[in-house]
Order: sequence, then structure tokens, then C-alpha cells
Amino acid sequence: MAIQLSHRAKAIKPSPTLSFSALAQNMINEGIDVINFSVGEPDFCTPKYIKKAGIEAIKNNFTRYTKSSGIIELREAISAKLKRDNNLDCSPEDILVSPGAKASIINILFTVCDPRDEVIIPSPYWVSYTSQVELVDAHPVFIKTNTSNNFKLNAKQLEEKIETLSNPKVLILNSPNNPTGIVYRRKSLEKIAEVCLRHNILIISDEIYEKLIYDREEHVSIASLSPEIRDNTVLVNGVSKAYAMTGWRLGYAAGPSDIIKRASRIQSHTTSCVNSMTQRAVLTALTEDDGSLEKMRCQFEKRRTYLVKELNSIEHVTCNLPKGAFYALPNISYYLHNNNNKSITNSAELCEYLLLEHKIAIIPGSAFGTNQHVRFSYATSMENIKEGIKRFKYGLQCLTK
Ligand SMILES: Cc1ncc(COP(=O)(O)O)c(C=O)c1O
Repeated sequence: MAIQLSHRAKAIKPSPTLSFSALAQNMINEGIDVINFSVGEPDFCTPKYIKKAGIEAIKNNFTRYTKSSGIIELREAISAKLKRDNNLDCSPEDILVSPGAKASIINILFTVCDPRDEVIIPSPYWVSYTSQVELVDAHPVFIKTNTSNNFKLNAKQLEEKIETLSNPKVLILNSPNNPTGIVYRRKSLEKIAEVCLRHNILIISDEIYEKLIYDREEHVSIASLSPEIRDNTVLVNGVSKAYAMTGWRLGYAAGPSDIIKRASRIQSHTTSCVNSMTQRAVLTALTEDDGSLEKMRCQFEKRRTYLVKELNSIEHVTCNLPKGAFYALPNISYYLHNNNNKSITNSAELCEYLLLEHKIAIIPGSAFGTNQHVRFSYATSMENIKEGIKRFKYGLQCLTK
């Protein structure tokens, strides 16, 4: 007799971004020349000085369990980083190191959400937020943003939505944003913070793309705006994106003592701790600098500028200029209504057509809650971007011929 699966296992959907990347990767493995814009990780290698620290840790037998919340030297380094970069006072005791920012977010959701609590997510959104909220039996509630407001949530929209809800508990804010590339400015954050404080809504501020920011835009952590808002926010960050360390698995949460203490307890029963050598490597990443980060950031900025200019030169395609992260989200809705005999009606069908017929992998906007767009990741070489954009342009042109 087959074992009945839990309601969680039955409800959980596969990550649409990972499924699409896997399909593209299968084609690449079969020797098909696919230009892959689907990947959400830097195409650079982890900087040498960081790798060296990881290797040293293994050589020195730093290979055992550590304290569940992370080694104290690392939490001290994170605390110093928060002060230096974000002007945020946060004691090492109020920091929890986890296997990736993804793990940090679900730990916090487990800590603060009861069944039926509502978690507000501005849309378009990063795919995992929805699934994580559902995994803890809470309800995701979306607030649509669009190109006209530059994909930014505003305080008025937030307030109006909160007034319609029965158990609003958390707002997940992500700046710089995946998939839109927007960066929230101080003024908007102040207004959003004020609404959250008034309604006692905890903010989970996902700042994983903090260091990938362009046009001299300033990254402002909402937690840093006032002592009151700091006590109402859990800041989440990590090393995956800025340090090209996706496979090392380390993220962290910094926030109110009682939340972090309970979240650490949850982690102690689930993953125990982040692997010890990664912790040592990240300690080095946060306390030394060989210039690699800035070099990678500059490459991303060049690629972004080129890609977005090319996208906007395509007939009936428009794309906002992203100010951070490494994604562009062009509007392709014209082609959902104008595609002679191809019966393409949504962004997923468009991406499937582009992958199968034009060998270019991009992610349908529907994965992020918008059917009008597709997401390009420019974490790929300039050469690939040049060839890929040609294919994209030609693929769309073919639809209207
Ligand atoms: C917005 C956002 N938050 C968090 C993560 C997860 O990062 P980590 O590798 O640290 O788990 C990602 C990864 O794609 C992301 O895009």
C-alpha cells in the first residue's frame, strides 16, 4: 500500500526556475548549443583568497560541528559588517548563520508564523517565498507592482492591502530585487516601515543582492532606519551572489533577540550548523578584500547596460533599467497576442518556443507572478549575451512574420 503523502508534500510545487534551467542544461548536455539566461548564480569562480581559507580550514582539521548559530568569530565579523556597511547595531548574539539565505528565511517563517497567518509579498517576487510561506502553513498574499510604478511597492498600496487582511503578520521585502532589479530608496522604505510599525507587521528584509548595485545607487537596509524599525525587522543576507559562493551555502539572519534565539533552536534540530570550513571561508570573505567583488560587480554592470539597451531596441519589447542584482525583466506581452499560428498565449509557452526553436533559455515571468514578462539573468558572458539577444530578437520577429 502506498504511503499517504503529507499535505505539504502534496502541495509543494517544483521551482519553475530550477525546472527550466534543468531543461536547458539537459539540452546543453546533449550537445545542443543553448544560450542560457536562466541561471540565478554568478558565472565567476569564488575568489582565490576565500577558497584558500576554506582549504586551510580542512587542512587544520576544522571539520567538526560548530555552535548551531555559527562560530563566534564569524558572527562578530557579520556584526561588524552590519555596522560598517548598513549602519546597523546588531550584537553577534542576535545573528543566526544558516545554510544559505533560503534557509535563513524559512527558519524565520517557522519562528514567527502560525497557520493562517498572512505573509505579504510584493509581486513580481522570487519564486521560493511563496513555497516557503506555504510550507509553514501560512498564506502568501501578493501586492501587484508594475512598470508604471517601477515595480516598487508603495506605502499606500501596502496599507490598503493590510486593511483587507485578517491575520497580517509579515512583509517580505527584497532589495535589490530578483527578478525586477529594482532598488528601494530611503524615502520609500521610511514610508513602508512606518506602515509596518503601525500595524505590527514584521519585515523580513532579503538583502542578498546588496553588493550588486549599479549607477552609484545606494543600498539602504530598512532595519537601519530607526531603533524601532530595527526591532521590527529581520535582515537576511549571505555570500552566494556577491562572493560567487552559491555552492558553499551560507546565509544569515540578524534581528530581534527572541526571534533569533528561537530560530537558532529550530535550526539546531534541523541542520545543526553550516559546515565548518564554509564558516571559516566566509570569515575571510567578510574581513579581507582582494578587489574581486568590485571586478565582478563592474562586469555585471557592463552586461546589464548592454543587454537592456539591446532589449529596448527590439520592436514591441520594453525593459526597465535594473539598478541591482543580475536580472532584466522585459515586457513581451505584445508577442502573446501577435504570434501567427503559434498559439502562444502565456510567457511559459513563449519561453518554451524560444528554447526549443531558437536555443535560448529564459525564465517565464509567470514563475514570478507576472505573465507579461520574461526574466533574463545576465550572469553569463558578454559573448553569450550578444549571441543570445540576436536569437531572442529573431525568435520574436519570426512570430509576427
Ligand atoms: C531574492 C533571493 N533571496 C535568496 C536567495 C537564496 O540565496 P542562498 O543561495 O543564500 O540561499 C536567492 C537565490 O536565488 C534569491 O534570488
